[in-house]
Parts: sequence; structure tokens; C-alpha cells
Amino acid sequence: MLKKIEKATDYLRKKIDFKPQIGIILGTGLNQVARLIENPVIIPYDDIPGMVISTAPSHKGRLLAGFLDDKKVIILQGRFHYYEGYSMQEVTFPVRILKVLGVKQLILTNAAGSLNEEFQPGNLVLINDHINLMGDNPLRGENQEKLGERFPSMNEPYSNELMEICQNIAQENDFELKKGIYAGLAGPSLETRAECKMLVYLGADLVGMSTVPEVIVVIHSGMKVVGISVVTNLSNIFHSQAHSQEDIQKNAQKAIANLKILIKNLVKKI
Ligand code: HPA
Repeated sequence: MLKKIEKATDYLRKKIDFKPQIGIILGTGLNQVARLIENPVIIPYDDIPGMVISTAPSHKGRLLAGFLDDKKVIILQGRFHYYEGYSMQEVTFPVRILKVLGVKQLILTNAAGSLNEEFQPGNLVLINDHINLMGDNPLRGENQEKLGERFPSMNEPYSNELMEICQNIAQENDFELKKGIYAGLAGPSLETRAECKMLVYLGADLVGMSTVPEVIVVIHSGMKVVGISVVTNLSNIFHSQAHSQEDIQKNAQKAIANLKILIKNLVKKI
């Protein structure tokens, strides 16, 4: 693992001539947010040693490095999911790379289904905690002390400080930004109605198939993270129609304008 990270970061340092401070990972349907960086250095994932290839719908699979305002940022356009068949270590490899390159704060975005009537398609929601129902953990196996401690605390996985900045930005720009608990499932089949009811009983507001492994590795490696879900659909406790990939993409589009405002201002204020 350490060798693999070193190889990837050696390669990237030759391509990127600055030390990035902030990382941004874009979820399903959110590629356009990458336009916030002008004239980025673009590196396809295929070119990065040790990186696997993103097979998820509408995930571009490339790394963009550049300036957003006067901050040095890296945007990952597309992520890896456990449901693609990758190991948890492969899914979270990009987070390891970002840490070694110098990133201190990470902005994670995803598309999520809503289990709470207050969160409607097109809304943005701050993830203030999560429930790992993926049945696996990226830290399983021998611990590399160089990467982090054996039993990292998950008391405050999502930074309260970064969430407060986000809520102020939303208020200033007149859009809603509530907080909710994200349940991470392995997928790829969507939840049954009984599973949705169970998730509600467990206290979850949102459901999705990403983010949780990445956040665990963020905490293990000592970075700060803010998680932003774009609600793309109501889960099927609220209705009986299946939601299509097209619906998910359409509702992601609705939220993009606010997401861009949020990320741009957050990067400025970090
Ligand atoms: N369930 C799981 N993952 C998702 C959903 C959903 O309803 N919407 C977007 N990602």
C-alpha cells in the first residue's frame, strides 16, 4: 500500500507543480462543478499508477488540478464504488493520494436518496454523521502506523467547523442547507421498501452507496471533511415508482447551481 501510494504521488508531483491544500470529490451527475477551476491540469485516472478505473454512470474518471480563487485544489471527477467490485482499499486510494500530496481539507459530494420528507429532490444536505452498512471497512487488515492509528475516533467524522461555514454561506445566498445522517450501503441494487423503513428506524435521513469508506480513510489519515449530499430522489417509502438514472441526473442538475456557490465560497473561506 505504501509503495503504491508513493508511485502514484511521485507521478502526480511531476505533473502538478504545486502543493494542493483542498480536495474535492464529485459524485454522480456532478461533473460540471469542476468548471470552477480555470485552466486545470487534467490527468485521466488511467494514467495514474495504481488507480483503478471508474465504471459508474456519468463518472468521468479524471483528476483536475488548479486554482479556485487563490487556493490550490484538486478535483476528482468521479469516484470508485464498492459495488463496482473494487476493494475498500481501492475505493479509498484517491483519498490516500490526496493526503500525501498535502491536502488538509476534503469536500465530498454524492447523490443520495431521501428517507426524510424534509429533504426533497434537488436539495443539498450536509452529512453530519453516517451509518456504515456496507459490511466492510477500508481499515480492515494490518494497520500501517505511517498512514494512521489502529482505532481512529469517529466522534466527529464530519467537521463541525466546516459545516458551520457551509450553513453561513447557504444563509447568505438564500438557499436551504439542512443536516442529515447518511446510511452507506454496498448496493448496487436499490433498497427494498422494508430496508428503507429499517433505515428510518435506525435514524438515517439519506441513503447512498459511497462516501462512508472515504470518510473513514479521511479520519484515519488526519484530514478534515465536509460531506454534501445532493438529494436526487425520494426513496421508495414515499412512492412506488422506480426512479431512473435519468431522474437522478436531472435532479442533480437542479442542485448544481447551489452546489457551485457553496463549494466556491467554502474554498474561499477555508
Ligand atoms: N439509494 C441508494 N443510492 C442512491 C439513491 C438511492 O435512492 N439515490 C442516489 N444514490
